[in-house]
Amino acid sequence: MSVLQEKVMTRDWGKPGQHTFKGYQERGGYQQLKKVLEMQPAQITDEVKKSNLRGRGGAGFPTGLKWSFVPSLEKNTKPRYLAINADESEPGTAKDRFILEFDPHLMLEGIGIACYALGAHTCYIYARGEFKHPSAVLENAIAEAYANGIFGKKLMGKDFELNVYQVRGAGAYICGEETALLESLEGKKGWPRLKPPFPAVVGLFGCPTVVNNVETIAALPRIFEKGADWFSKIGAAKSGGTRLVTLSGTVKRPGTYEVSMDTSMKELIFDKEYGQGLPEGRSVKAVIPGGSSAPVLTADELDVKLEFDAFKPLQSMAGSGGIIVMDDSTCVVRSLWRVARFYAEESCGQCTPCREGQPWMARLIRKIEEGRGEMADLDTLMHVAQSIAPWPPIGLGNTICALGDAGALPVQSFVQKFRKDFEDHITQKRCPHGDKPWGSYGEFQ
Ligand SMILES: Cc1cc2nc3c(=O)[nH]c(=O)nc-3n(C[C@H](O)[C@H](O)[C@H](O)COP(=O)(O)O)c2cc1C
Ligand code: SF4
Repeated sequence: MSVLQEKVMTRDWGKPGQHTFKGYQERGGYQQLKKVLEMQPAQITDEVKKSNLRGRGGAGFPTGLKWSFVPSLEKNTKPRYLAINADESEPGTAKDRFILEFDPHLMLEGIGIACYALGAHTCYIYARGEFKHPSAVLENAIAEAYANGIFGKKLMGKDFELNVYQVRGAGAYICGEETALLESLEGKKGWPRLKPPFPAVVGLFGCPTVVNNVETIAALPRIFEKGADWFSKIGAAKSGGTRLVTLSGTVKRPGTYEVSMDTSMKELIFDKEYGQGLPEGRSVKAVIPGGSSAPVLTADELDVKLEFDAFKPLQSMAGSGGIIVMDDSTCVVRSLWRVARFYAEESCGQCTPCREGQPWMARLIRKIEEGRGEMADLDTLMHVAQSIAPWPPIGLGNTICALGDAGALPVQSFVQKFRKDFEDHITQKRCPHGDKPWGSYGEFQ
C-alpha cells in the first residue's frame, strides 16, 4: 500500500488562521522567498528543473524547462509576465480552489519565487468566475501581502518591484486554455491563439509570459524548503512531488486528496484513507482518470500509478487529476453524452472540426442513447472524432487548441472500450438502463 508518507501541499490545510498572513507566517511562511532572493535567478530555475516539478494544469509539462524558454533580457528587452491559471473548469477537478481557500499565501509565496526567477514584475492571477469565496479569500491575502511588505515597490525588501493582481473570469471553460486566458486578460474574447509562437516568447501584450497552474506554483516554497533533490525523490522517476487529485462518482468517500505518485488508481478508489470503495453490491465499470477530457479506463486498468507518464501506455492521461468513478449500474452511453454536450457547448467556434464536430458527436450519442441509433452511426461517430483528433492520441489534433482533443478523445475511448454497450442500445432500440428523466438540455440534447 502506497500511503502518502508526509503531507506536502496540504499539510497546513485547516490549521487556525492558515489563510491569513499571520497564520501563514507563524508556520514559517515567506521564509523560502527570503532565501531565494539571495540566489541568482538562473540558479532558481536550475533548482526547479532539478526538482522534476511538472505542471499540474493538465499537460504535465516540466516547469523549469518552460521557464527556460523565456528569452534572456539581452535577447528580448520587453517586460515579462507571470500568469497564474486559476480557471479550474475541467469537469471533475476541484483542487486549486482549495489552495486559494485554505492556503492562498503558499501560492503567493510561489509567485514571488517564480517572478524573481523570471524577472517578471507583474503577475496576473486569472480566477474562475464562479470562485466567489476562494477569490474573496485570495483578494484579502494579496492585500495582506502588500501591507506586510511582501509585494509592491520592493519584493520583501529586495530592490525588485512586484505587483500581483487577481482578474476574475466570466464562466467560459475555454479561458483556461493558456492563450485564450491571455486574450481574456487583454480584455478580448477568449479565443485561443495559434502556436507557435508560444507564450514564453510572445505572450501577454506581445511580451514573454509564463502561464502556470495554481498547484504548480504553490509547490515552489516546498521545493526550496527541503531541496530539489528531496522533492524529486518523493515523486516518480520523472515527476517530482506529490499530487492533488479529486475523487468523485460512486465511491463511499469522495474528496480532494493529496497522494504519492506511487499510489495506484485501485488504492485511491478502495483504500480506507481515500475512496473506501463503492457502495455495497456495486463494482467499477469505468473511470475517467484526469478530468472529463481524459480517455476513459476500464475496471481492468486500475493498477495504473497516479503519475504523469504511467497513463501513456493506456492511451490516457493524468490530466488535471479529476478522477470520476462509474459503477456497473452506469449507462456509459449517457455518461459520454453528458461529456460530449459539455465540449459542444464550450467550443469557442474558431475551428470548423471542433465547432461543427463536437455538437454533431453529441447529437449522434443522444440518438444512440435514445434507441434511435443505427450501427453506421458508430462509424460516423468515430470518423467525426478522428477528424478532430487522431486516435490513438498523439498529442496534436487538427484544431487550434486542445479543446478539440478534449472532446474527441473521450468519444473514441468510450466507443472502443465499451462498444457492446453502444451496440446494445442500437439492437434493443432503447437504453438498457431504462428511461431517464432527461429534463431540458438546450440545443445539444
Ligand atoms: C480547453 C482547455 C482548458 C484548460 N483549462 C485549464 C484550467 O482550468 N486550469 C489550468 O491550470 N490549465 C488549464 N489548461 C491547460 C493550460 O492551457 C496550460 O497548459 C496550463 O495552465 C499550464 O500550467 P502548468 O504548466 O503549470 O500545468 C487547459 C487547457 C485546455 C486546452
Ligand atoms: S479547438 Fe475548439 S475551442 Fe479550440 S480554438 Fe478551435 S474551435 Fe475554439
